[in-house]
Amino acid sequence: MKIVVLGATGTIGKAVAQLFREKGHEVIAASRSSTPAVDIANPASIPAFFEQVGEVDAIVSAAGSAAFVALPDLTEEQIQLSLTSKLMGQINMVRHGLPKLRPKGVAVITGGFLAYAPAPKTSMIAMVNAGLEGFTKAAALDLTDGRRVVIVHPPWVAETAEQLGMDPTPWPNAAKTAEAYLAAVESSQNGVPVFVEGYAPGDI
Ligand SMILES: NC(=O)c1ccc[n+]([C@@H]2O[C@H](COP(=O)([O-])OP(=O)(O)OC[C@H]3O[C@@H](n4cnc5c(N)ncnc54)[C@H](OP(=O)(O)O)[C@@H]3O)[C@@H](O)[C@H]2O)c1
Repeated sequence: MKIVVLGATGTIGKAVAQLFREKGHEVIAASRSSTPAVDIANPASIPAFFEQVGEVDAIVSAAGSAAFVALPDLTEEQIQLSLTSKLMGQINMVRHGLPKLRPKGVAVITGGFLAYAPAPKTSMIAMVNAGLEGFTKAAALDLTDGRRVVIVHPPWVAETAEQLGMDPTPWPNAAKTAEAYLAAVESSQNGVPVFVEGYAPGDI
């Protein structure tokens, strides 16, 4: 399959791209610094990106920022970033990618378990993740010719937890997390959330 991996230089995206390549898929690595480049916070860059890439079998997004800030401290700018980057950026990636998504193709976007397990300072992240899940469930009903859309909700990834000074041991590493993206691409699931094995809401 020819697969766009958005965020292919990031903690999760890098592991996803590597796993897809190991499975024999062709990976088009995409980010603000790739060639061609795409900035999902700038909607005009997305159709231009797909024009250069052409038809694909899968669009996998592991990118997008949302504010990790306590509600009383949130600025208007941080709220807007959460909306334009992780929420609308990924929705626009699916929307503008659809004309280039082959029949039976799949779009995979990234939410996060904070949609299910709220924590302090995550009101924007939880809102965006839940919004992306709602989008996924309804957007699936509008797709034709066997096309699918799925959302992966990763838990904390061990590498990220370590960077944030948290205990990484309860969490899967990026390589294990990438398996959920492979399952999303290779399964026939549509309009549903996908979890890293062992890290579904009832498990954690
Ligand atoms: N890591 C975790 O523990 C965790 C847990 C749950 C959910 N998530 C979610 O998973 C996604 C990826 O997280 P991560 O930790 O792997 O991120 P990361 O390490 O910060 O990497 C982000 C990737 O996305 C690209 N990117 C960032 N902004 C972009 C934009 N506006 N347009 C296009 N590309 C952009 C970056 O490349 P450039 O800088 O070159 O553009 C990079 O390749 C995020 O949505 C995050 O909320 C992460």
